Amino acid sequence: MNVYDSLKMESLLNPHGFNLTLDEKNADLIILNTCHIREKASEKVYSELGKIRLNYLATKPTVVVAGCVAQAEGEQIFKRAKNVDIVVGPQSYHNLPKLLEKVKRNEKWVIDLNFDEKNKFDNIEMLNNPKHSSFLTIQEGCDKFCHFCCVPYTRGKEYSRKIPDIYREAIQLISKGAKEITLLGQNVSSFYGYDQDNALRSLGWLIKKLSKINELERIRYITSHPKDMISEELFIVHAEEAKLMPFLHLPAQSGSDKILKSMNRNHTRDFYFQIIEKFRKYRPDIGFSSDFIVGYPGESDKDFEDTLNLVEHVGFSQCFSFKYSPRPGTPASIIEGQVPEQVKSERLMTLQSLLKKQQLQFNEQFNGKTINVMFQKPGKYKNQVIGKSPHLQSVIVESNVDIIGEIKKVKISKINLNSLVGKVSN
Ligand code: 5AD
Ligand code: SF4
Repeated sequence: MNVYDSLKMESLLNPHGFNLTLDEKNADLIILNTCHIREKASEKVYSELGKIRLNYLATKPTVVVAGCVAQAEGEQIFKRAKNVDIVVGPQSYHNLPKLLEKVKRNEKWVIDLNFDEKNKFDNIEMLNNPKHSSFLTIQEGCDKFCHFCCVPYTRGKEYSRKIPDIYREAIQLISKGAKEITLLGQNVSSFYGYDQDNALRSLGWLIKKLSKINELERIRYITSHPKDMISEELFIVHAEEAKLMPFLHLPAQSGSDKILKSMNRNHTRDFYFQIIEKFRKYRPDIGFSSDFIVGYPGESDKDFEDTLNLVEHVGFSQCFSFKYSPRPGTPASIIEGQVPEQVKSERLMTLQSLLKKQQLQFNEQFNGKTINVMFQKPGKYKNQVIGKSPHLQSVIVESNVDIIGEIKKVKISKINLNSLVGKVSN
């Protein structure tokens, strides 16, 4: 979502005379769009600000800290980094032109951390969304309050955009060449948006509507919460709509009921299994990915084994996994039973080696098969082109004609952990 938000900020500022530059050293304006999810991401902001202060002393750009670190740390940022001009939270980007005006008038410590009701980016046409595969935010915020997570505090309450606004943006993206759209939301599966007749419609309904647009060939959505996966419409659309790709990112976080409860996830491991089973019934070739946190406070060896066991049971096609990172202000950061760093590292290594094994196994089933690939960018070497399979695997081929933006059949001849290699078959 930060990528999408950054692209929108660019589009917003363009009419005010700002263009994207690769010549960082001569930039008039530098915006750091930041992430607060784990300590490492959050601290990176200050090292970047330090670099800007040292390296751009002569050019003195206007410096903006945007995003979730801005929301979480507010005025503290001005105190820690003297070269920051504007701090703007993730729901106030549309005010950037006004905030920049204030800096022009020599106002100091310009800050906007408001949560607006109306969507910040409605009616701003996207300039440079990656052409063939584009993001489209349909929902923001989170009411789930998992005890480890800062998102409900930084992104605010759950909010779904109106369907006519989403549809208009989809048409704009498609008219610029998008063949694939990924619908975004912190809780995309809790999307309920009003249609033109003021009726509330679900994610499944929206996917069905978008899939009727001829030129749109692929639809994805991310990220879902197990607790929301109860709408029959969504399961059915996976079965019936070929444009919806057979892949679902469904974070489990842990396989231990005790830890899930302590995390305030509001679902059990059995419920997670039931959802997986149901998706497989409706769409047998579906691939699953997940997020996992190891070393959550109170996680015993047995709890960790439950996580390994959940992974074994589901069989994932790819996953993200993290060491628990205490976030200021969240309930988990002050509970007892914080797990030593060494134990977290060992568990992460064990989990990741199992996940890698599964990823390879998943990829292996495509060896020798012919699959549809949507080509998106040039590879590292001459004539190499990289695309995505329906299951979101990277696929590498060689081609001396330009196939970027096209969907082609590819015969897979080699399997790697992070990619499939093949030949375009005509
Ligand atoms: N520590 C580690 N990982 C976290 N995530 C969210 N908060 C934390 C935290 N405090 C992970 C979750 C989430 C993903 C986006 O980041 O797994 O699904
Ligand atoms: Fe964070 Fe939980 Fe909300 Fe996901 S559902 S954004 S992990 S609080």
